[in-house]
Amino acid sequence: MQCRPLTRPVVEAAPVWLQQEDLRPDRWRDESTRAAGGWAGDELVVVGRIFTSRVHASRYWTEVIVAPGSRHRGYGRQMLGHLVELRAEDKPLCTRGYVSAEAVSFARHLGARPYQTCPPETVATSDALGLRTGEVLVVPGAEVPRHELERAWVDTYAWVHASWSPVAAGFEEPLLAGFRTDISLDHTRLVATSTVLAGSYVFLDEGDAVIVAECRSPVEPLGLDLLRACVRASLLSLAAAGVQAATFDGHDTDPHFRPLLGELPTTGEAFELLEWLPGGSPV
Ligand SMILES: CC(C)(COP(=O)(O)OP(=O)(O)OC[C@H]1O[C@@H](n2cnc3c(N)ncnc32)[C@H](O)[C@@H]1OP(=O)(O)O)[C@@H](O)C(=O)NCCC(=O)NCCS
Repeated sequence: MQCRPLTRPVVEAAPVWLQQEDLRPDRWRDESTRAAGGWAGDELVVVGRIFTSRVHASRYWTEVIVAPGSRHRGYGRQMLGHLVELRAEDKPLCTRGYVSAEAVSFARHLGARPYQTCPPETVATSDALGLRTGEVLVVPGAEVPRHELERAWVDTYAWVHASWSPVAAGFEEPLLAGFRTDISLDHTRLVATSTVLAGSYVFLDEGDAVIVAECRSPVEPLGLDLLRACVRASLLSLAAAGVQAATFDGHDTDPHFRPLLGELPTTGEAFELLEWLPGGSPV
């Protein structure tokens, strides 16, 4: 098999097995966004790409797709080996998925190891009634000045990821672009006096409710109590609007969110983020 950069003509003439994919030519953004194809004779049998995120730049996200009729012939492994060589910087490759996903079993088989896990985290909104809260006052997102709300989101996001996927320089704008598109001020709830201390940030993405819940500081006194009040109010607000289920976007390492999730019945599947550590390269 021969590997070559994916060119625009190749992308535009994608075979049927790639037509649902978001295929992009090599270096679509810059030197950190690489895309390649592998040909057996004249036939394109595999595509792969690596890219850094503008929010987290310490690893390369990695994707490989082999033509359905050409699997289990070593093309996936060869493409991974090629992608390792395309890196502009010495950063690990990484991937992610639900534990039953093909991407995860393939990555594990080729030596990738989890650096973060997320528990099953879909809940019925009405189950919030089982959360016992005290006298903690929460307010909807619309009642917090926009600048303070955004600063609280940026601060929360940065510390939550600091130990395992630190944010990149200049991450605020790309992070806030997504926030501004999807945040629901109606269902978001915060503990906020002059500043936000804790938040249950609700995002509505094509009708699905996704919640990120944490305190603004990892060492918030009574943080679990503050967060419980926020989450309970967000879930009940969603329930009142006819939304029956919500999915959290939290991690096993989140110090306030993770114990709180343990107080709710959950469904879904665990999710893993995996990386190839130095020396654990797929080649
Ligand atoms: C997953 C995928 C890329 C594997 O490609 P492939 O060319 O069939 O894999 P290879 O033949 O190179 O296999 C390399 C090794 O991985 C193993 N492997 C392949 N698919 C696997 C899977 N789903 N789970 C576990 N191991 C797998 C092979 O048995 C082989 O092991 P060995 O060398 O010890 O015998 C391919 O099935 C595919 O394109 N799937 C759809 C897209 C996808 O899920 N991509 C995820 C990768 S980001």
